[in-house]
Amino acid sequence: MYVCLCQGVTDGQIREAIYEGCCSYREVRNTLGVATQCGKCACTAKQLVRETLSDLHNAQTAIPQHPGFTHA
Ligand code: FES
Repeated sequence: MYVCLCQGVTDGQIREAIYEGCCSYREVRNTLGVATQCGKCACTAKQLVRETLSDLHNAQTAIPQHPGFTHA
């Protein structure tokens, strides 16, 4: 599914960017260029980043010291 039509960024690309090390919406935006034109996708992109980070966090609870995560 395309999240950002202006930049042609899909939800899969956003997830992949996070799996490869992005740990914030800002980093994803800088990496993929998502939400850098009309900005309409920003809400969806932010939500997706948040969801993916929490999925990843849950999946990695066995690894106690991942630098990108804090226990909230
Ligand atoms: S849809 Fe993402 S910047 Fe326009």
